[in-house]
Amino acid sequence: MNNNKPAETIEDTIQRQYACIDKVREINNEKAGHEGRQPTYDVRIFGCQMNEHDAEKLTGMLEEMGYTKAAEGEQADVIVFETCCVRENAELKVYGHLGLLKPSEGDKRSIIAITGCMMQQPHIVEKIKKSFRHVNIVFGTHNLHTFPELLLKYLTKGKRVFDLWDATSQVVEGVPVTRAEKVKAWVNIMLGCNNFCSYCIVPHVRGRERSRNKEDILQEVTRLATEGYKEITLLGQNVNSYGNDLGLKDAFADLLYALNEIDGIERIRFMTSHPKDLSESLIQAMKELPKLGGHLHLPFQSGSSRILKDMNRKYSKEQYLDLIDRVRAVIPDIAFTTDIIVGFPGETEEDFQETLDVVKRVRFDLAYTFLYSKRTGTKAATYENQVPENIKKERFQRLTDTQNAIGTEINKNYEGQTVEVLVEGKSRQSDAMYTGRTSKFKLVNFTCDRDLTGQLVQVKIVRAWPFWLEGWLIE
Ligand code: SAH
Ligand code: SF4
Ligand code: F3S
Repeated sequence: MNNNKPAETIEDTIQRQYACIDKVREINNEKAGHEGRQPTYDVRIFGCQMNEHDAEKLTGMLEEMGYTKAAEGEQADVIVFETCCVRENAELKVYGHLGLLKPSEGDKRSIIAITGCMMQQPHIVEKIKKSFRHVNIVFGTHNLHTFPELLLKYLTKGKRVFDLWDATSQVVEGVPVTRAEKVKAWVNIMLGCNNFCSYCIVPHVRGRERSRNKEDILQEVTRLATEGYKEITLLGQNVNSYGNDLGLKDAFADLLYALNEIDGIERIRFMTSHPKDLSESLIQAMKELPKLGGHLHLPFQSGSSRILKDMNRKYSKEQYLDLIDRVRAVIPDIAFTTDIIVGFPGETEEDFQETLDVVKRVRFDLAYTFLYSKRTGTKAATYENQVPENIKKERFQRLTDTQNAIGTEINKNYEGQTVEVLVEGKSRQSDAMYTGRTSKFKLVNFTCDRDLTGQLVQVKIVRAWPFWLEGWLIE
């Protein structure tokens, strides 16, 4: 990897991308004239909300360059992979897709571009270089915005393009975005992570913390409100340290107060909060600001203080439980969700029991549970006492059984109640149903005879399922 941070300003780089966008569009329009069809794109997303939002930027750039979305089942002219490497599974899925795209004779050739977290690892880039020769363009998380330039280079020279930056201090503004949703929108507030939890690859592939300017965020959200968006989710690996790199104090709470003032935006969500620096000012903001709702996602990862230390999480079981109590003292009916890792190196049955204990004590509405996955380059990958797969899986099962029973009990309490739902669109459950969430993040599917997408409606809950609530619209 070369550390080719550009010497030019970011504004100049972005301007050059717009010039490249124009050139690619010219090429595409000419091609469309010959072939009678506009070239198509397909962006395949793996990973978290960061990637979903980055994919919206890739889509924005592709559409500006004259590509249209490929129909279901059609092999697109340009296929872009937005990859994730947080666990091995995510990487295996990408290899599976790439394998299926290996061209055989007579196949239509697509341009295949690959970006995202996986590409920030040199050993993976080597593998793509050698074993996946049909991949044409490779770039990383730090230079997503230079995609038009890289695509133009490939289109004009016909040679494979590899452009990887191993770091950046830039915060890029002004990239075109085509949002996947109409009611809720992702908004980056910071990039990167400084925490280096010992199991986690994210700081290695997303770089150090960089906060966006408050004014840029407010401008983006104001624009979203005028476009009709009702809900925003602020994204960062650790939103509680928003502004630290800009020398600000309590900047996240300040940002929330400012965002709460924007007319049209009904709900503000954020993720993720690290327990180690969840501030009193944030708890206060959650109490005072009506748009924040009553939900907090607060990953605890393990209930064993010893494992938490090895994980480099910088809090103990007791401190986590104390934090939960402090939040509940201010916001009694708050709904907590969390992330948990099972089978971290050295985890014993006793450690695992501590994790179950936290789950039972806190009573999370929902937990995202993961089998520990060894990631090359992280500290925990060098630990010798890795837990055998069968033990990990058995613990995982006990954990999900415990949590699902709690989640179902919490949902049962909603039966007979009326909740306010922000309607997101048609439900996947049935054609006669619409879907949305409550302010506490509860997924609700409800019967309704007309499309009220984007509106806040009252829904009577008639039945609780383990992961969602069923109801009907109350006029
Ligand atoms: N920044 C966020 C989470 C980012 S990754 C936070 O700190 O909460 C999302 C989740 O993936 C993590 O919370 C963790 O539970 C899980 N995860 C990260 N690395 C993992 C690994 N190596 N194996 C299993 N799960 C992992
Ligand atoms: Fe990974 Fe920890 Fe950073 Fe979250 S806070 S992204 S788990 S290193
Ligand atoms: Fe997200 Fe996966 Fe990267 S979880 S930050 S896409 S490694």
